[in-house]
Amino acid sequence: MKKIKILDKEFEISMSAESIQNRIGELAEELSSDYEGKKPVFLGILNGSFMFSSDLFKKISIDAQITFLKLASYQGTTSTGAVKQLIGLNQDIKDQHIVILEDIVDTGITLETIMRQLSGYQPKSIKIVTLLFKPEAYQKDVKIDYIGFSVPNEFIVGYGLDYDGFGRNYDDIYTLVK
Ligand code: IMP
Ligand code: MG
Repeated sequence: MKKIKILDKEFEISMSAESIQNRIGELAEELSSDYEGKKPVFLGILNGSFMFSSDLFKKISIDAQITFLKLASYQGTTSTGAVKQLIGLNQDIKDQHIVILEDIVDTGITLETIMRQLSGYQPKSIKIVTLLFKPEAYQKDVKIDYIGFSVPNEFIVGYGLDYDGFGRNYDDIYTLVK
């Protein structure tokens, strides 16, 4: 079993680069067929989805655009604490078919925030693609349209996913060793 150490923690491989790339190929085919003639705008959510967005987009075979957004945290004045705001958005998405690209959906809180803010820009449609989904952790009702893999409720890194900012640089995915 391939093991890596990131900062103070040990991880072991749980998904090979090959299986990730194969699944991304399938997703790209499905999306290319579903969005034929619609000139979709792919919206990669930074930082986590940079690798997935790049690999997926390279395999898209129709006319399509890509752009990136970031969720910036700042300290809110409300009792709920940290508030997250989408930055990098502009009016160009009005009347466009938007395809959100996420690395992982866990509780769904991030996704709900993104959906709420995006709908204000009046796109023609919004669909969601996530490479990874943790069904046991999901708390929201937002429909996830395309899922690469459903994974157990365990902490993972690699392929863009980080532990305290580290570990994004692996092309396999690794699970925290308990
Ligand atoms: P959510 O808002 O709970 O759905 O969390 C989404 C964000 O939490 C993701 O975009 C990731 O940045 C992070 N996250 C959730 N699970 C993991 C994990 O297992 N490893 C690394 N980051 C994760
Ligand atoms: Mg993320």
